[in-house]
Amino acid sequence: MKENQSYTGKISNKKIFYIETYGCQMNVADSELIKTIMNDEGYLLSNDITKADAIFVNTCAIRDHAEEKIHSQLGRFALLKKEKPETIIGVLGCMAQNLKHDLLENRPFVDIVLGPDSYRRIPELLKRKNTQKNSIVDTTLSRYEVYDGLFPHRDDKGVNAWVSIMRGCDKFCTFCIVPFTRGRERSRSKDSILDEVQKAVDAGYSEVTLLGQNVNSYLYNELNFENLLQSIAKTPSLKRIRYTSPHPSDITDELLSTMSRYQNICNYIHLPLQSGSDKILKRMNRTYTKNQFLKLTKKIRKILPNVGISTDIIVGFPGETNKDFYETIDIMNKVMFDSAFNFKYSSRPGTKASEYEDQIDEHEKQNRLEKIINLQKQHTLQRNQRLVGKVQSVLVEKESKMSNKQWAGRTDSNKWVIFDKQSARVNEIVSVLITKAQGITLRGELVKKVKAA
Ligand code: 5AD
Ligand code: SF4
Repeated sequence: MKENQSYTGKISNKKIFYIETYGCQMNVADSELIKTIMNDEGYLLSNDITKADAIFVNTCAIRDHAEEKIHSQLGRFALLKKEKPETIIGVLGCMAQNLKHDLLENRPFVDIVLGPDSYRRIPELLKRKNTQKNSIVDTTLSRYEVYDGLFPHRDDKGVNAWVSIMRGCDKFCTFCIVPFTRGRERSRSKDSILDEVQKAVDAGYSEVTLLGQNVNSYLYNELNFENLLQSIAKTPSLKRIRYTSPHPSDITDELLSTMSRYQNICNYIHLPLQSGSDKILKRMNRTYTKNQFLKLTKKIRKILPNVGISTDIIVGFPGETNKDFYETIDIMNKVMFDSAFNFKYSSRPGTKASEYEDQIDEHEKQNRLEKIINLQKQHTLQRNQRLVGKVQSVLVEKESKMSNKQWAGRTDSNKWVIFDKQSARVNEIVSVLITKAQGITLRGELVKKVKAA
């Protein structure tokens, strides 16, 4: 396999590029593809923005806040361009797709604006930019582009490899910009996914996380998500498989039974709830009710007793009354999620919900957000305390931030555990006795090494 190429500080005749990534794991995976494309074009990756001949920002448009952060970064890039006018500035990804007109009118220093399906055109556009003054824009959405045949340049050496298996979303939740920025659902072929997984294992990765905006909508010819998982699970030496994010309506019994049958498919599901109120769920176009979601989590815990379930919740969706909000609190109390990403509703221009007239006051949204954050903290602690005194299989991932004598690794159910290093090594699955639940993490003691699953 070809080596990833980064700038080492030595004098070289190669050009240098720098990339910043915002947003979800799909963007992280996309940036890894962009790094491969740039390496193939003869550019070296550097973390030093001042040395770069090309500066890229891979953007996110999911909430207003994400866009604001990128706007302030663009201000910094403008100053750099002033000092070094030959630097090429590229805005890539979801925000490029969404805000191209605004960028072109108000940010004249931006040279290239590319949507998520146009990254293969980067080399051609870089060359064109040398002869052309105007900004170059390509935000065409493709029905086919899945970036097959490109092996990602992975920075996160050796433990988890992100593997994108499908792109786009056809669900059209009324709050969400993704179907507009990333286009229609399309899936990669099984062969190309298996090839990438094998290459990742050969390169020393122990875990793969399968990615897709709607990962369990995967469909390639007749092959569905659970069929694909079964094939991936048979990859020799692949210790762990995770996936994110599924849609609750598409969790099938076959998927759960596949998860229970294969030891290397992790007992963890990120199951975005969004709201506990049937009225709001309907307005969000989420296609399930509170009761159906509750039943689903019960079934998941029955089939996978040690499963970790996390979620996404939005508060302050248009029309959310106190009563609706308390339906969310109620389902949180009933499910007791292991963890949750909680958000204030952010109006996204172009989505259906942005046109609803009963938008909620910002102050009220903030109050509701704080309430569910505090509630979730208690639930996380309670769920984690259930593991105290139990032995968990932990994949050793990295040195703990607290001490160079301790490792940090994750349980099968996706909880971080800190423990003394002793003889354990990164990339090994070890048995750890959980001794304490503290905040969102667990403390433990190494029991003995166990063989890889
Ligand atoms: N406002 C707030 N949160 C949002 N999400 C998606 N769109 C919005 C929005 N407009 C959240 C959802 C989704 C997660 C990735 O981001 O909870 O599951
Ligand atoms: Fe957005 Fe809904 Fe698609 Fe998830 S399923 S990406 S929330 S539209």
